[in-house]
Amino acid sequence: MTTQSRSGRVLVIIPTYNELENLPLILRRVRAAEPGAHVLIADDNSPDGTGELADRLAEADENVHVMHRAGKQGLGAAYIAGFDWGLDQGYDVLVEMDADGSHPPEQLPDLLDRIDAGADLAIGSRYVAGGRSVNWPKRRQLLSKGANLYVAIALSLHVRDSTAGFRAFRRTTLEKLDLHDVESQGYCFQVDLTQRAIRRGFRVDEVPITFVEREHGTSKMDQAIVVEALWQVTRWGVRYRSAQVGQLVRRVTGRPAAQ
Ligand code: GDD
Ligand code: MN
Repeated sequence: MTTQSRSGRVLVIIPTYNELENLPLILRRVRAAEPGAHVLIADDNSPDGTGELADRLAEADENVHVMHRAGKQGLGAAYIAGFDWGLDQGYDVLVEMDADGSHPPEQLPDLLDRIDAGADLAIGSRYVAGGRSVNWPKRRQLLSKGANLYVAIALSLHVRDSTAGFRAFRRTTLEKLDLHDVESQGYCFQVDLTQRAIRRGFRVDEVPITFVEREHGTSKMDQAIVVEALWQVTRWGVRYRSAQVGQLVRRVTGRPAAQ
């Protein structure tokens, strides 16, 4: 099987924590939807044995790789480690995808098409025309919409779904995002990378997707993750706004920035 897709060599990174039932299902779907793509499973030593299952699945398929991490360190940390590995291995496009089927692998070609069309980052979005969520509890929908609204206001990001976790990055984008100083452990990692890509002038395209709530297992979203996100976005917002004010003051007074 060739590893060459039209977008170059593609690596789909799937972070897992207790996804025993979901892992074989998602792998089969990814391999069918984009046969040329490789997969990296980044498991945080799941107590339910997802890591061992991943090893067995990788033994049977040379396009599947596994990264074992010491313990649960958050989605952001797992992705950073996965990106490091993928960049090191020379992949051209690196994709983020949940293990639980919420991000339909059948829509992965849509994301890769956008990369081929020139996007530096393609985001699978629920909040552009044609995008939607299926079976998502009202509480999560409200949280997601509220988070996106807060991000749009605090950071002036013109992205409808800045928290989305189904994305394709060109390697040249990731190489310029200074991944090593990303502090976000949890899901605000997604907002952080969106913000970094936009501030550095990359082309960020949103592609409509259908987000489907998981059928097996449970979400790892908890209160600490929400609190971290709220706190980080507020911090970034204050920093962004004060930089804007500083610029304005310098423009009005004609003075260089204070040292
Ligand atoms: N390795 C590792 N370590 N994987 C993790 C961890 C962790 O600490 N926490 C979560 N995961 C994995 C899960 O096993 C799953 O494959 C994926 O990351 C997403 O976790 P879920 O718990 O299913 O996330 P969610 O459905 O609540 O949130 C989704 O939507 C958010 C936007 O509203 C995700 O796609 C988020 O990334 C996204 O921000
Ligand atoms: Mn999920």
